[in-house]
Amino acid sequence: MEPITAVILAAGLGTRMKSRKAKVLHRAGGMTLIEHAIQAATAITSEEQIVVVVGHQAEEVRAALGHRRVRFVEQAEQKGTGHAVMMCSPVIGKTGLVVILYGDCPLLSGATLQQLIDKQRALDAAGTLITTRLDDPTGYGRVLLDDNGFVHGIVEQKAATPQQLEVDLINSGMYCFRSELLCKHIGGIRPENAAKEYYLTDIVEILNRAGHRVAALQIDDASELLGINTRVELAAADRILRERKTRQLMLDGVTIERPETVIIDPHVAIGVDTVVQPFTRILGKTRIGEDCVIGAGSVIEDCAIADRVHVAPFTIAGNCRIAEGAAVGPFSRLRMESEVGAGAHVGNFVELKKTRLGAGAKANHLAYLGDCEIGEKTNIGAGTITCNYDGERKHRTGIGRGAFIGSNATLVAPVEIGDGSYVGAGSVITDAVPADALALGRGRQVVKEGWTKRRKKTKEEALQKR
Ligand code: UD1
Ligand code: MG
Repeated sequence: MEPITAVILAAGLGTRMKSRKAKVLHRAGGMTLIEHAIQAATAITSEEQIVVVVGHQAEEVRAALGHRRVRFVEQAEQKGTGHAVMMCSPVIGKTGLVVILYGDCPLLSGATLQQLIDKQRALDAAGTLITTRLDDPTGYGRVLLDDNGFVHGIVEQKAATPQQLEVDLINSGMYCFRSELLCKHIGGIRPENAAKEYYLTDIVEILNRAGHRVAALQIDDASELLGINTRVELAAADRILRERKTRQLMLDGVTIERPETVIIDPHVAIGVDTVVQPFTRILGKTRIGEDCVIGAGSVIEDCAIADRVHVAPFTIAGNCRIAEGAAVGPFSRLRMESEVGAGAHVGNFVELKKTRLGAGAKANHLAYLGDCEIGEKTNIGAGTITCNYDGERKHRTGIGRGAFIGSNATLVAPVEIGDGSYVGAGSVITDAVPADALALGRGRQVVKEGWTKRRKKTKEEALQKR
């Protein structure tokens, strides 16, 4: 097959975003706009064959794509879409096809690009463009067809006659051209229009004059062509992308309650019969198994959650692993590589930081467990605190299997608590507790019988003397 180069135009300023950040680095559907364009392009070509035209905030855009093998072309001055493509001439192959896309059209699918290539190949035209009909075509270039359905010109809104403005067939700005013809004729574009810009759209007439045909691929789903100019459009694109993700998951067997309130990133995987409750955010590379419940209002990022895990509402978990059958929440916070063992419980207002909770262990209420390793079936009482920080460094707490930590225990790290041992409620533990021992580290209780009555009497006597 002939090679395909994909050129993504991303040099524009994006004035209407009113942002210090490059427009294509804004996010919709959990990815930057430019990542969406690259993802679509990889459906038809390899990453090495993708060229991103950068201009405004070029360094930031390059840096954000540092992990990609795409190539960059710098367009220092933005003299129009035609000029942007001219800048790419040196990196476009002399044979094969060139596809031109925008970096700010995140809804375009790889499947539509494949259709574009298929149509181009079937008709063997000089080029093919993607078009659609819009109820309100204002602002777009209008596509002018001849009697055979080929494109004989594109007229920009500003230059259109009243009759041309009636045309509802719009130019998406996305095209495919035969490289050889594009390279041969691109130099023919002149900045002869009100904006004094090099309009890529002029290539259509130039090709026609040279005796070539340009075809049109009309698509029905106009939303795929939505370009982002403002943050309002960004939010609209985000909504559509989130809908696509939740819809796919539902079709694959995940129950999502009130999906319009749920935010799930594109690379998240969720197993069948898991129930996702309203207002959850499931982000990053999170993997969730089968038969789980993800409670309302939870935020789960980059976590690995096994099967049959119950996450009660308002749990915040980042970069953690939760093993099969465990239950966490409501209002739990798990972070920094914490691990919850199989069947373990983490309850309300419990924070785990770099902590491993063994299988069947429980920390059900109000605890801070940091840099801690907790053995199987150990019970952590309400209010237990690991004092893991001495003001300079973090220290580890080790708690064995089957231990029982009484409520409100303060465990001053570094400290080791042995298997099967007990720590009395309210203890401050600074020294190692051997296996099977009871450790008490608190003031002994004193009881003064009749103290209240005696005090009352003394008070009354004092009053009488006045
Ligand atoms: C362009 C088309 C118009 C089409 C519309 C669809 C032209 C002349 N017109 O108009 O027919 O209906 O897109 O959205 O092409 N860019 C660069 N360098 C430049 C200029 C633009 O990289 O010098 C990039 C921008 O960042 C943007 C894209 O190209 O992503 C489109 O540019 P824009 O100025 O928005 O073109 P439109 O006027 O919308
Ligand atoms: Mg535009």
